Amino acid sequence: MTLKEAIEARHSVRAYTDEKIPEDIRKILDEAVSEANEEGRLHISIRYDDPEGFDSKLAHYGNFRNVRNFIVLAGKKDDGFDLRCGYYGEKLVILAQTLGLNTCWAALTFNKKKVKELLAPGESLCMVIALGYGETQGRPHRGKSFLDVCESSSAPAWFRDGIEAALLAPTAVNQQKFFFSRDGEKAVLRSKGIGSCLQTDLGIVKYHFETASGHEVEVK
Ligand SMILES: Cc1cc2nc3c(=O)[nH]c(=O)nc-3n(C[C@H](O)[C@H](O)[C@H](O)COP(=O)(O)O)c2cc1C
Repeated sequence: MTLKEAIEARHSVRAYTDEKIPEDIRKILDEAVSEANEEGRLHISIRYDDPEGFDSKLAHYGNFRNVRNFIVLAGKKDDGFDLRCGYYGEKLVILAQTLGLNTCWAALTFNKKKVKELLAPGESLCMVIALGYGETQGRPHRGKSFLDVCESSSAPAWFRDGIEAALLAPTAVNQQKFFFSRDGEKAVLRSKGIGSCLQTDLGIVKYHFETASGHEVEVK
């Protein structure tokens, strides 16, 4: 499965089977985590076989079931921290999808107390991502259309490809509060309106656009 195919196939999955993630897949994921940490100046880690991260009333209320693995997005809370967590977190989400795994971002509905115990001193938690073999593959979200999120429809193919992929990106409560414009060969991305998790959403959307279009996205 290519990255583009994975972007199309990915949907949030909140209920998981008992199937363990095999060692060879863990190795690929852990290598990708090290790379993301180096590039993104972050301290992301993956907890395998640990049901405690999603063992809370909030997680069950949020329909999470049998989450046994999760990605912890953490690091020093400097400028651009939430944006970079979004970008590199989604890079791992799409890689996981190519490896036959399923995921779901979680800003609220997990056991924050337990996850915070895993952090190194002085580090901040952005949020977590549930990871494992889903009971289902999820289903497509309903959402905004092309002209809701960019300036004009008379755009080059690369820009249209980027927008299509951006519209498939997960955003908190499916808010899709982003807007694209074009500056020559580059796309410019801004958040639109108010909401929570907007910077993390922008990082996720930036990853989708760049992967599908092959063009850089500047976040303003
Ligand atoms: C930054 C962020 C935070 C999220 N937080 C939660 C959460 O706390 N609980 C939850 O059930 N889903 C959460 N989600 C999942 C979104 O609800 C989901 O991505 C959105 O509805 C779009 O659906 P899709 O991912 O299937 O395309 C979050 C998604 C993002 C990107």
